[in-house]
Amino acid sequence: MIAVISDVHANHLALTAVLEEIERLGAEKIICLGDIVGYGPEPVECVDTVRQRCDITLCGNHDFALIYGAQDFNPIARNSLDHHRSLLMPRPDAEDETERRDRWQFLKDLPYRHVEGEYLFVHGAPRNPVVEYLRKIDVLLGLKKKIAENFQEVDWLCFNGHTHRAGVITSDMEFLVPDELRGVFEPSFQQKAIINVGSVGQPRDHDSRASFATIQDDKVDFHRVEYDVEAVAARIAATPGMAHSLADRLLEGR
Ligand SMILES: [Fe+2]
Repeated sequence: MIAVISDVHANHLALTAVLEEIERLGAEKIICLGDIVGYGPEPVECVDTVRQRCDITLCGNHDFALIYGAQDFNPIARNSLDHHRSLLMPRPDAEDETERRDRWQFLKDLPYRHVEGEYLFVHGAPRNPVVEYLRKIDVLLGLKKKIAENFQEVDWLCFNGHTHRAGVITSDMEFLVPDELRGVFEPSFQQKAIINVGSVGQPRDHDSRASFATIQDDKVDFHRVEYDVEAVAARIAATPGMAHSLADRLLEGR
């Protein structure tokens, strides 16, 4: 069994709860699709835990912007990243910066894509792995060219995150949410699929529980895990410089 997590967003309580559930399920491998940082109260702890526990970790747009700048981010996301950068970036004059340097190098070295057999793993989209969004609305609007160009990069199944909403886009231009699938997607060999595992640390589908997926025998199970959302919202509210709206959206799952 492979467990796939994404969009941790510095939410260490959610990450810990998800990793406990993954251990209970007995997954042999954990793949993280990026966005370890941004938005939440505990970026350092999340980077350390992801480094320790995940076998493969990819680069998300927030991880990229932490290193290279968040000029095109909205002010709330940018402020939280500025705060995270102050906690993670090595300080040239400080002594014993080994831990910070190691974390920074880990984040800098994150790959953009990972392939295992006929599975492709990315943060955003197959053709533009770090920043492009693939949303339900793309399917509803019939953006065939965009979807087809992305499927060109996929052998059979692609796993992604980035939208913070779990769901499946098929090469037949269907969008399915886990509820419609009763939590299980059984892919057919006749069609390709892009499977969004949702977000551990900031779900946006009006369900505040942490989201992830597992793959076993080519079958995908979607999971939700409860954790102490109020405690994390309180930590965000208590962090100077971080917008209270980030706490509110966590409580509401939006
Ligand atoms: Fe994200």
